[in-house]
Amino acid sequence: MTLPERTLGGSGLVVSRLGLGLAAVGRPAYINLGRARDLPAMRTPEALYRRTAELLDRARVAGIRYVDAARSYGRAEEFLARWLGERRVPPDSLTIGSKWGYRYTANWALDAPVHEEKELSRAHFQTQLAESRAHLGSHLDLYQIHSATAESGCLEDASLLRALVAGRREGAYRAAGVTLSGSASARALELALAAQVDGERVFDTVQATFNCLEPSLAGPLARAHDAGLGVIAKEVFANGRLTDANRLPGDESLVRGLRAAAGARSCSIDQLALAFVLSHPFVDVALSGAATSAQLASHTAALDVALDDGARALLEGITEPAERYWATRARLPWS
Ligand SMILES: NC(=O)c1ccc[n+]([C@@H]2O[C@H](COP(=O)([O-])OP(=O)(O)OC[C@H]3O[C@@H](n4cnc5c(N)ncnc54)[C@H](OP(=O)(O)O)[C@@H]3O)[C@@H](O)[C@H]2O)c1
Repeated sequence: MTLPERTLGGSGLVVSRLGLGLAAVGRPAYINLGRARDLPAMRTPEALYRRTAELLDRARVAGIRYVDAARSYGRAEEFLARWLGERRVPPDSLTIGSKWGYRYTANWALDAPVHEEKELSRAHFQTQLAESRAHLGSHLDLYQIHSATAESGCLEDASLLRALVAGRREGAYRAAGVTLSGSASARALELALAAQVDGERVFDTVQATFNCLEPSLAGPLARAHDAGLGVIAKEVFANGRLTDANRLPGDESLVRGLRAAAGARSCSIDQLALAFVLSHPFVDVALSGAATSAQLASHTAALDVALDDGARALLEGITEPAERYWATRARLPWS
């Protein structure tokens, strides 16, 4: 199968419009709405490797060409590298992105007090790049700062920016990217767009939260796309709130309205949510954060869902104030 494809800005990297993120399967715990029903009863490393490999196999058959990992997603890079080796996947047949900035600290425990720690320094970049390369080698196409913020100073740290550009020039990766989270992402994106070293732009891509509850970055992302950056949309299901599995107190009428709209169009809530994101021309690739093959199949089928005016109006009408959206996200448990 093939899916519609795009080139990620000026990077030359080819991606399918649907990508697969490995945050939900590289470690036993993740921010979610209750994944006990989705994951194997025993979340051993081998059981989660098997789930990761199953998702990657299905993604490949479906025509997905972008896979997203991070140093902090537990063993995601290691699982991906093992799968690439076992399936003998040629480096140019998939575009692979990873991230540095957070280190995984939970030691495979579900109830760890802290699951990841952040450090956006040049020294940490160099340590984590060596770790990512040890796993992914020449498969590493895109290396992204994980959740860059304006106040961290990383987007104006001349020594770090120089190191990011040097990594690209030396061929450690083909493109440098930035990922953004939170209600202050627009300011961070401005800084990322302005970042240059010797007149060379530092960042080729931006990955940011974009969904119908939190579309506040639409304008900045469209401008970034016009300026030549590749745009990757993440959290398109609002961490599961835009799926039929959402039982969050306070979201009852949201889910009722979405269920009715989806039912009238013979599709599912997650398919409407994904179709909304993909209907924005500035989105090059939208990430599926699937934990199961059934979820991935539903997300793949969403590429055939055309958004009619009624559905678009409904989805545009459920936008939440950004502060409220991010406060709700911060309350979601890790389990
Ligand atoms: N800062 C960053 O750079 C950053 C941050 C977040 C994510 N990401 C990337 O973006 C990817 C996607 O983000 P995300 O997983 O956090 O958020 P998401 O895609 O909005 O949510 C994914 C979750 O929604 C639920 N879900 C999805 N489809 C479903 C369906 N059809 N039925 C029922 N439940 C469904 C599953 O949770 P349950 O298992 O609970 O059902 C799944 O784990 C990640 O894998 C990662 O690659 C990057």
